[in-house]
Amino acid sequence: MAMKFENKVVFITGGTRGLGRAMAAAFLDEGAAVAVNGRNRDAAAKFEEEFKGRRILVFNNDIADYDAMEKTASDVVDAWGKVDILVNNAGIVNPLAPSEKIKKDDFDKVIDVNLKGTFYATQAFGKKMIAQKSGRIINMASQVALFGEKGFLPYAISKSALIAMARGLSYEWSKYGVTICTLAPGFIKGGMNEGLIKKEVFVDYLSGRNPIGRMGTVDEVVATILFLASDMAQYINGETIVMDGGMSGYIQEGLLDFIGKAAKG
Ligand SMILES: NC(=O)c1ccc[n+]([C@@H]2O[C@H](COP(=O)([O-])OP(=O)(O)OC[C@H]3O[C@@H](n4cnc5c(N)ncnc54)[C@H](OP(=O)(O)O)[C@@H]3O)[C@@H](O)[C@H]2O)c1
Repeated sequence: MAMKFENKVVFITGGTRGLGRAMAAAFLDEGAAVAVNGRNRDAAAKFEEEFKGRRILVFNNDIADYDAMEKTASDVVDAWGKVDILVNNAGIVNPLAPSEKIKKDDFDKVIDVNLKGTFYATQAFGKKMIAQKSGRIINMASQVALFGEKGFLPYAISKSALIAMARGLSYEWSKYGVTICTLAPGFIKGGMNEGLIKKEVFVDYLSGRNPIGRMGTVDEVVATILFLASDMAQYINGETIVMDGGMSGYIQEGLLDFIGKAAKG
């Protein structure tokens, strides 16, 4: 059976660990050549070791470094002749705090990586895609970009900017054959929540925040990314796909239930 991404070249920012690493493994299994980056040297070395012998490139750098992103895009195209898919996966969350207490450094770091860095990577790889007249870009946002939640403000601002970025770029770059969309996942059982989910009390809390009654899985994120990167999803352009188990459209206690309770006294 033909593999879905045979001969495709994929770059995943922050692909050395977490959700990005799982995406990289899936793209490789579907026949793609996969390049990733990340700041942590050990994580980059571990990725290289784990996928030794496969069609991979690993860059130990930071998306917030403009020149590094320009060079990385050129290196990928020099190595493999093109770049078909960019997954803007790299992202960090701020230490949770009420907005009036957020430290300047924490705010700046999140904006530097999630917003500025994602734009730097998008522009660097986007220029290659424009030149070759084809390309697909997928941003990783978050359901936190879609509604207010105490603690997450810098992260939410940076992720909602990616939604705007996809809208703007789809308008500008579609004529070059470059399309872009955004995925907004809810709380996933893995990646940056790895520490949190070791405690069952957090899993129970996060599971109860959506009508499905559980956290999302890494496999579900990977499956959605593969779909959005595939030929089947090419007409999804400029849009944000929300996969949060229904959380962002969910009122935990509806009026009807409240009326029922109130009637009982
Ligand atoms: N897990 C969730 O529940 C969830 C939900 C919604 C959205 N998301 C989004 O999904 C994406 C992946 O999250 P995750 O859960 O897999 O997080 P993670 O486990 O913390 O992994 C993040 C990855 O991004 C890399 N990274 C961070 N800053 C970077 C930078 N400046 N330059 C290059 N690489 C960088 C990290 O590597 P280094 O640290 O080595 O740089 C790591 O490989 C993020 O954008 C996150 O906001 C996650």
